[in-house]
Amino acid sequence: MTTRQPLLKVAALRKTFDNNPILKGVSFELHKGGIIVLIGPSGGGKSTLLQCINCLTIPDGGEIEFDRQRLDIHSRPALYQHRQDVGMIFQEFNLFDHLSARDNITIALRKIKKLPRREADERARLELEQVGLADKAELYPAQLSGGQKQRVAIARALAMDPKVLLLDEPTSALDPELIGEVINVIKELAAKGMTMIMATHQISLIATLADHILFMEDGRIAEQGSPAELLGAGCASKTQGFCDRLNQLSGE
Ligand SMILES: Nc1ncnc2c1ncn2[C@@H]1O[C@H](COP(=O)(O)OP(=O)(O)OP(=O)(O)O)[C@@H](O)[C@H]1O
Ligand SMILES: [Mg+2]
Repeated sequence: MTTRQPLLKVAALRKTFDNNPILKGVSFELHKGGIIVLIGPSGGGKSTLLQCINCLTIPDGGEIEFDRQRLDIHSRPALYQHRQDVGMIFQEFNLFDHLSARDNITIALRKIKKLPRREADERARLELEQVGLADKAELYPAQLSGGQKQRVAIARALAMDPKVLLLDEPTSALDPELIGEVINVIKELAAKGMTMIMATHQISLIATLADHILFMEDGRIAEQGSPAELLGAGCASKTQGFCDRLNQLSGE
């Protein structure tokens, strides 16, 4: 349909842990501004895939092409640049407990981007404002709610100007009443055209945000398509079955 080059291309990605193949050849493409939602049963390899995409975990085989350049996983500078291009948000926030919200954001700006402190502080201020936490800059993670911590983590990732954001179950560790504030921030990012891949069990994000759904099972993409293709009326897809089960759980 389109001849545009994808921003990210993953081809035949493989990863084995302790002789257990976890990714068994995963391929897909993501275009600029696209939002892929990654779903599927626990243990299917979603987190491993996200970690391999930004090379927090080094894949054993396959290729990653970013912005038309094949990533050389043996080149430290290339990996370094790739991890800046591809930001990551974790389920458990992964903030530095000994740093304030502001310094959680400025540390990479100062150490990696070499920004002077004043500029880094100003960028942190802007990013915290974007996620509704302008007044929390001085607070430490222990003084923040789960939803606030996740919003600081999002602000921290955005401060690095990533071209793609990977989100691994960003709302799963949150109390139900705090999920909405993080969902709203993610929806705002989507509205601004952020390119994203998000693993989630959050039914309200799957159908409303995804323009493409990947259903991962046993280390492979078992099914993929648009929400209309996979969740349309009368559709008997794995995705539909998975969403029905999520709906049943949330209705209980
Ligand atoms: N560092 C590791 N060492 C050994 N095994 C691992 C490692 N990371 C993941 N695995 C294994 O890989 C499999 C896939 O795990 P992964 O976390 O990618 O699944 P997931 O789809 O994200 O599941 P969930 O929905 O529960 O988050 C699991 O069997 C897990 O035990
Ligand atoms: Mg996971």
